Amino acid sequence: MKRVSMTFAAFLLAAPTLSAAADEVTYRKQIRPLFEERCASCHGADAPYLGDFKEKKEEYVENDIGPRMDTYADLIFFIGWPDTGAIMRRLDDGKSTKDGKPGNMNEYLGDDDQERQKNLNVFKAWVGEDAWKLKRWKARGDVPGATKEEISKMKLKY
Ligand code: HEC
Repeated sequence: MKRVSMTFAAFLLAAPTLSAAADEVTYRKQIRPLFEERCASCHGADAPYLGDFKEKKEEYVENDIGPRMDTYADLIFFIGWPDTGAIMRRLDDGKSTKDGKPGNMNEYLGDDDQERQKNLNVFKAWVGEDAWKLKRWKARGDVPGATKEEISKMKLKY
């Protein structure tokens, strides 16, 4: 009996941690299905890697094909390094952009404003609210490059 109550006590102690972990956005739980539904038709396994994409960019864009980002590793390439902040710049709704206009991939996040906002929030939570910066690896114009501190705030749970 004593053993059972000890187990139960251990469970109660662990419970808050468990529910916090369950709320956490992960690639496998939320991002992959969202990507499959909303992005994979143009950025899927048949799409070219960024290096190949760049060599024939016009042709690909004409055919609605973007660079490949259909796995965890391929996707974080466009968040952390080397294409730092690309996902943030393209998906942002205009709140973090300089001109106040949404990034050009924002429209694909949903069929209406509400759905786009909801799915943007999922991406933001996954990257990390504090890491949702639109900066590149290197400075460009008057925008400074991302700092190591900013990069280290990225969550990107698998
Ligand atoms: C209808 C096709 C289509 C859909 C759907 C689409 N994209 Fe794209 N995406 C493109 C094309 C074509 C480009 C390249 C042209 C450009 O840069 O705008 C691109 C470019 C990008 C880039 C910039 C890559 C770089 O060069 O750094 C990112 C990031 C991106 N898309 C993310 C997404 C995400 C995330 C989704 C899903 C929410 C999505 N896209 C949905 C076609 C699409």
